[in-house]
Amino acid sequence: MIEMLPRSHRFAWLSAKMTLAMPRNVQSHTISLNPTLYCSVSPMSTASRAVPVPNAVNIDDLRELARRRVPRIVFNYIDGGAEGEFTLRENRRIFDDVTLRPRQAVPVPNLNLHTRVLDTDLSMPLLLAPVGYCRVMHPDGEIAAARAAGKAGTAAILSTVSGHSLEEVKAATTGPAWFQLYLTGGRAAAENALHRAQATGYNVLVITIDTTVIGLRERESRDGMEQMLRGNLWSRIPFVPQVLARPRWLVRFLLDGGLPDMPNIVTPDRGVLRVRDAHTAIKRTAFFWDDIAWIRDLWKGPIVIKGVLTAEDARKAIDSGAQGVVVSNHGGRQLDFAPPTLRVLPEIVRAVNRQAEVLLDSGIRRGTDIVKAICLGASAVLCGRAYIYGLAAAGEAGVTRALQILRADLERTLRLLGCSSIADLDRSYVEIPACWQRH
Ligand code: FNR
Repeated sequence: MIEMLPRSHRFAWLSAKMTLAMPRNVQSHTISLNPTLYCSVSPMSTASRAVPVPNAVNIDDLRELARRRVPRIVFNYIDGGAEGEFTLRENRRIFDDVTLRPRQAVPVPNLNLHTRVLDTDLSMPLLLAPVGYCRVMHPDGEIAAARAAGKAGTAAILSTVSGHSLEEVKAATTGPAWFQLYLTGGRAAAENALHRAQATGYNVLVITIDTTVIGLRERESRDGMEQMLRGNLWSRIPFVPQVLARPRWLVRFLLDGGLPDMPNIVTPDRGVLRVRDAHTAIKRTAFFWDDIAWIRDLWKGPIVIKGVLTAEDARKAIDSGAQGVVVSNHGGRQLDFAPPTLRVLPEIVRAVNRQAEVLLDSGIRRGTDIVKAICLGASAVLCGRAYIYGLAAAGEAGVTRALQILRADLERTLRLLGCSSIADLDRSYVEIPACWQRH
């Protein structure tokens, strides 16, 4: 029933019932409509609260704003890592091992941050990483992220597990867009998504290979993620106060109709996947190397394999026909004690031997991080939490602020290094620990 209502009328209906964590189509079967509850409210909030400069000077400041503005369960979904969070911590710490070697007093009248990766022009060497369930962080979710990326002249990579359809997201951005594939929902769902993504103009396919099972994110378990997504009313009750503690977020969430479905995962027998079923579905349908042949047949453009951490897998990716790899440990959310990506980057760059593009993510929070990755051989980086903190804090304005921070960092760092172009960065601008040289 609620699907038949204009979005602007859903809030009164939903708030009367306060079934905040139920998927829309569950509500539609269980609740009848009371027309007297209708009121005219504006559609999902697009007005983002400000991210004023003194409060958001760096990405950690955006993280703090996000922590204060979304419920604990949502913040920890974004911020948390797997198990003891060793890899999550190492992803940041490893950047401290590499120092910079500036060429002083070199004038840099014209700075060039432009980068081209797989026929995609980027105004800086940075793309937005695929992040699932963004619509729970902010109703504008992936649309806000893609729009901000487009305005900043860079590309957003849309996750399969998005609450907005791939058509809506592509239409929202003036920039290029890549699509990230999970086999959630099985091959039929993947085929449907691939056809739609190609027809809509996504130009690169990213296949994530590090999710044969979902990592154990202990913070999510403690916050009641399982109970909130799949539990009954009684099992949810202990976890409701954290949601009520963020009324602004709650109002936006209810206005948006509660938990979103997954419009990019459509199976012939079950239709659009519900968010509560997504984790179970992904467990059953992880990607294995054998799958790449049929994907290769369906997808005509470049393919990038995301989640590569060894030279062996980098070679496998190239041998299977990929044009790029992302050195990634999923932001420390999957295998704890997987290596920090900057540490394995040189090994992978050597193994790839210029036969494919090498990108890197996991831990990027500053422009100096980006510069270090490029000096060690990456063509560009993906940032995940860096923009997601902004999204959770303030929607599109927050993503824009994150991108401004990283761009300003990059410009300042290059000028201080005495280097006028991203293309000129190389090993000579970094000092790496002696033990890294031996491998
Ligand atoms: C992710 N990541 C991810 N990756 C992917 O291929 N598909 C996905 O749906 C998601 N979802 C997701 C949700 C959240 C909340 C996070 C934080 C991350 C991983 C993401 O693409 C990227 O690899 C990491 O975020 C990079 O690490 P940083 O930049 O967050 O430290």
